[in-house]
Amino acid sequence: MMLSERLLAIANFVPKNSIVGDIGTDHGYLPVYLIENKISKKVIGTDISLNSLKKIIQYVDSKGLKDFIDIRLGDGLDVIKPFEIDTVVIAGMGGLLIKDILDKNKKVTDSITHFILQPNVAADKLREYLYENNFTIIDEKLVKEANKFYEIIYAKKGKALLNKRIHLEIGEKLILNKDPLLEELINFKIDLYYEIMGKIKHKDTFRTRERYLELDKKIMELKEVLKEIESN
Ligand SMILES: C[S@@+](CC[C@H](N)C(=O)[O-])C[C@H]1O[C@@H](n2cnc3c(N)ncnc32)[C@H](O)[C@@H]1O
Repeated sequence: MMLSERLLAIANFVPKNSIVGDIGTDHGYLPVYLIENKISKKVIGTDISLNSLKKIIQYVDSKGLKDFIDIRLGDGLDVIKPFEIDTVVIAGMGGLLIKDILDKNKKVTDSITHFILQPNVAADKLREYLYENNFTIIDEKLVKEANKFYEIIYAKKGKALLNKRIHLEIGEKLILNKDPLLEELINFKIDLYYEIMGKIKHKDTFRTRERYLELDKKIMELKEVLKEIESN
């Protein structure tokens, strides 16, 4: 089974010889890939859905990898004990759900060294949580699949300073790395915000006026990031 470009980019962040918790693993493709490619020694694949769990069990059985992949049914890190894993992957969920999963079981979260997080939406809210809760974003990568951008965040524990507010929306590492997809992502966001502004322009409520100004400011900040990338 070939991994999708998104899952492959996630796998590339997983350290060698790691013991991984893949939270919300669904199909189980990532655990199998990590074991088959000798990246991880052991993977615990979890999911809250019994249906997903049945898929994983079948897939892992068909690969003969039962001894290396532990499959557990449950909510987030509830089914992981402190120090049982050194790396966690939480991918393909909303940023707010990822933040809730990290926040709910502090003892487990604090015992993990490597965090590989891929929010489908609300990446800014997740980054805000990381900055405010003693995480350092070590690296980030963008992937585009089926016309959708995915942000992959690799973090560790440790305090980091938020240099500019826009870095919640556009990860600072993406700028420093000059991620090949960054310019396209920023232009996509600018077009989207102009479109929303066009739609709410004539709705004269306090909330829409506030939103209009907020988007206008965001566009300015995004254009500044574009200039920054172009000048470097
Ligand atoms: C879109 S799939 C992503 C699958 C895989 N991680 C990936 O990135 O391709 C999201 C999975 O997360 C599971 N999920 C949602 N909330 C969860 C939670 N609180 N704890 C564990 N799994 C959860 C869902 O059942 C679903 O299988």
